[in-house]
Amino acid sequence: MKVLVVGSGGREHALAWKIAQSNKVKEVVVAPGNAGTSSEPKVNNIDIDAEDIDALLSFAQQRAVELTIVGPEAPLVAGIVDRFTDKGLRCFGPSEAAAQLEGSKSFAKDFLSKYNIPTAAYASFTDINSAEQYLRKQSCPIVVKADGLAAGKGVTVAMDKEQAIAAVKECLQENRFGSAGSKVVIEEFLEGEEASFMCMVDGVHILPLATSQDHKARDNRDKGPNTGGMGAYSPAPVVTDEVHALIMHEIIEPTVAGLTEEGIPYTGFLYAGLMIANDGTVRVLEYNCRFGDPETQPVLMRLKSDLVDLCDKALDGNLQHASVEWDPRVALGVVMASTGYPGPYRKGQVINGLDKVEPDSVKTFHAGTQVRDGNVVTSGGRVVCVTALGKDTLEAQEKAYDAVGNIRWDGVYYRTDIGYRAISREKSD
Ligand code: AMP
Ligand code: GLY
Repeated sequence: MKVLVVGSGGREHALAWKIAQSNKVKEVVVAPGNAGTSSEPKVNNIDIDAEDIDALLSFAQQRAVELTIVGPEAPLVAGIVDRFTDKGLRCFGPSEAAAQLEGSKSFAKDFLSKYNIPTAAYASFTDINSAEQYLRKQSCPIVVKADGLAAGKGVTVAMDKEQAIAAVKECLQENRFGSAGSKVVIEEFLEGEEASFMCMVDGVHILPLATSQDHKARDNRDKGPNTGGMGAYSPAPVVTDEVHALIMHEIIEPTVAGLTEEGIPYTGFLYAGLMIANDGTVRVLEYNCRFGDPETQPVLMRLKSDLVDLCDKALDGNLQHASVEWDPRVALGVVMASTGYPGPYRKGQVINGLDKVEPDSVKTFHAGTQVRDGNVVTSGGRVVCVTALGKDTLEAQEKAYDAVGNIRWDGVYYRTDIGYRAISREKSD
């Protein structure tokens, strides 16, 4: 069969790589893809933007695509799944209505509160004076979030009220995020350790995937500005069996049941970003209506089952019959980024060392890369995610950084401590 993967990041490289391994699959086409996807066996790129739903739809119809898997949130929130389904095409992901879980933070918070799913206390505002009045009565730190999609840049953890008010003004007065910031959510600051919990959902049944954790801050020890994610690993040791059961029972099951009750049943990958407090309680920080990036890279490195089979079962409402097998090893991915990211950075730098043969336990997933004049050059903030399997987090980390050492370009930046929390847990066990 022919499968279309929508997107161009590291997540989509990992998806295409994994899907191409399925015996059922003859060809994977990635729209628009990157230099990494174009060099995978059975995988080709097509130059269509991930948000150009009209062009994606005509391509899928003309080229007899049998299954479409959508990586990023923007086309999901814009209703790509409804458009494909209306034309009788199989497209794995949530409907536009269900994708609001990620597309609108106020929708997500109201939903969490209605269904008693644990989350931070919050209030939403469209009016700057009311927001300021509310803020004066709160304590700091406090979190200000643009309501809509802001490419990971819409969240400010404010240490004092001035910073919080400035963040509110950026949204409601200065229009920094356009219509995505015409409403803000102001939220209680939660303490603890974050984890990413991803599952597949078929409308009713839930298949939890391997747990993972990413490092969102740019610099070592989780300092510096928030990014899309500078590295990730799977499993996340903070999610013990007990915590896993609690997450399923208090968060994931009520989420899926609640959406059905709202009349918008959820099909697709569902991601809950969680804060796990020291006392073991868990609260939802955010929902994503897709796989995480870079969490996908280590999680799919560990997936032994056929991903196309799982998506097919989910689309047929048969996930209760699915089982999933994982490599027991730990996978850890280090993002190599362009200096300056998440702010402005240079593009077009020639990347050296990508041709070095990697062992089976190491894989470099591309994100912001392009082929230009026969060279692979940088074309984004996050450039590659070097991912390795090891018997424990320490070994996976050593192998990933060994491979990172082979890859170079002018202006490369990466953290040198990915996985440090898991490694210190392993040491103390
Ligand atoms: P979000 O996009 O909502 O997940 O927010 C991005 C990042 O901001 C999260 O991964 C957290 O690191 C941080 N964050 C968001 N909400 C809170 C909160 N209520 N308390 C503490 N940190 C938060
Ligand atoms: N790594 C976090 C995300 O994909 O949103």
